Amino acid sequence: MARIITVAVPKGGAGKTSTTLNLGAALAERGYRVLLVDFDPQGNLSLSVRATIGTPSLYTVIKTFIATWEPGLAQVIQPSTIPNVDIVPTDVWLNEADEDLRGADRREYALQKLVEPIAPAYDFVLIDTLPYFGMLVKNALVAADELIIPMQAEFLATQSIAMMLKLVERIQRSGLNPLLRVLGVLVTQVDLRTNMSRQAESYARSEFLGRVPVFQSTIKRTVRMAESQALGQSILQYDSDGDVAGAYRALAEEVLRAAEA
Ligand SMILES: Nc1ncnc2c1ncn2[C@@H]1O[C@H](COP(=O)(O)OP(=O)(O)O)[C@@H](O)[C@H]1O
Ligand SMILES: [Mg+2]
Repeated sequence: MARIITVAVPKGGAGKTSTTLNLGAALAERGYRVLLVDFDPQGNLSLSVRATIGTPSLYTVIKTFIATWEPGLAQVIQPSTIPNVDIVPTDVWLNEADEDLRGADRREYALQKLVEPIAPAYDFVLIDTLPYFGMLVKNALVAADELIIPMQAEFLATQSIAMMLKLVERIQRSGLNPLLRVLGVLVTQVDLRTNMSRQAESYARSEFLGRVPVFQSTIKRTVRMAESQALGQSILQYDSDGDVAGAYRALAEEVLRAAEA
């Protein structure tokens, strides 16, 4: 059965999409079967791996599911430009699902029920999310076994982590997903040339000490990230020997080790 990992934090530009993509690529490089689910209507992940929306789309699959409880996610899975990585792509229409889900029975469980029948075909299902709390993010947190919280190494970034942890507590306590496990906070876009960025990392480590794990691996800022995405590649393909590719490989190791803990 796949480990289902959601990547979420209520802040744009934190590194959710880049992390979903490149952690997926790193796990696939190790031989694991990976499915990425683009659950952000902005569709950045889909565009970054050159996936295009067909018929049906993720949105129409959700709409049908709400009406019939027929799990049709298999119909929208596509290969991506990253070796051994499949994707469920999305587009801006997924915004409508947020509204539709509000009126649905067991509305927080739709994504979980959709992923359940396809999960056995994968080792990892990684879910990318949007930066606003709503039914989509709630669904992504209910569907997941585990959560990765990216934090951009910058001033005040820990605030959004604290907010995310409050939401996780609510999801756990309410019984929506009592076993949701925070795998860790991932410090991203570290710029070693600025004091602020370096301090943000050590501040995060001390601030969250004992409350939530912070991954040992951190992701440095590199212009190659945007370049790789523009070419439809992972950073592991585009700059295989670079620091950031190495850091995502190390992150994959930490994620694999966490299963044993
Ligand atoms: N390690 C990195 N170095 C440089 N730019 C990065 C890095 N990670 C992400 N970015 C860039 O920062 C922007 C936001 O990252 P993204 O992963 O899309 O965040 P989110 O999905 O949380 O909004 C993107 O333009 C992406 O290319
Ligand atoms: Mg994103």
